[in-house]
Amino acid sequence: MSPRPQLKIALPKGRTLGHVSKIFERAGVACGALTDESRALVRRARFGEHDLELFLLKPDDVPTYVEYGTADLGVCGRDVLVEREVDVYQPVDLGIGRCRLVVAGPARASSPAGGGWTGRMPRVATKYRRTAAAHFARQGTQVEIVDVQGSVELAPLTGLADVIVDLVETGTTLAENGLAVKEEIASVSTMLIANRASYKLRADVIGPLVDALRGAVG
Ligand code: PRP
Repeated sequence: MSPRPQLKIALPKGRTLGHVSKIFERAGVACGALTDESRALVRRARFGEHDLELFLLKPDDVPTYVEYGTADLGVCGRDVLVEREVDVYQPVDLGIGRCRLVVAGPARASSPAGGGWTGRMPRVATKYRRTAAAHFARQGTQVEIVDVQGSVELAPLTGLADVIVDLVETGTTLAENGLAVKEEIASVSTMLIANRASYKLRADVIGPLVDALRGAVG
């Protein structure tokens, strides 16, 4: 008897993991409750007769593992896929982590697209350098991009930048910091991603798993 094939799946640690764990369970993946409490970075799971290996990663590292084929599948936000121009299949929208990527700035300031900026070149603080640059280039607006990694909303409050490009989910963080959405760039949700070669070569496992995940998402 040939050994059971093993599939490797890269999952993001953090706030998405609990939701992903529930969708996987509904799809028939026996993975138990996946939490960050254990520090083990590799977890075992089963899907039908197949053994699965789950890698728990920083969200930004998931596409790297999938693109290189170290993981066959992964779970990743569309914001990261677009920003990094990741070359993978995106077979299932998991319907979680829904939010918007927006340009936001001081609630009382005029829209950047409305010509409210005068004098020096406007500065845009963001974790999404490439996406932000492409957005303003499409508008024909010259901006200086300032790289920040978190607490992005602080940048316009402190004068580091005029506006930000960041994710908005409930809008609470913007509101509590006197900021407002000026423009919407894209809607974002969490995707199942697949290595292009694995998707074809491991279709025997990936096909049924993708179908089951689609069913579990509804
Ligand atoms: C994200 C995002 C916003 C916030 C939006 O930050 O960068 O700051 O959530 O959510 P809201 O619209 O529901 O308030 P995260 O919590 O990941 O932390 P960070 O500031 O360190 O990026």
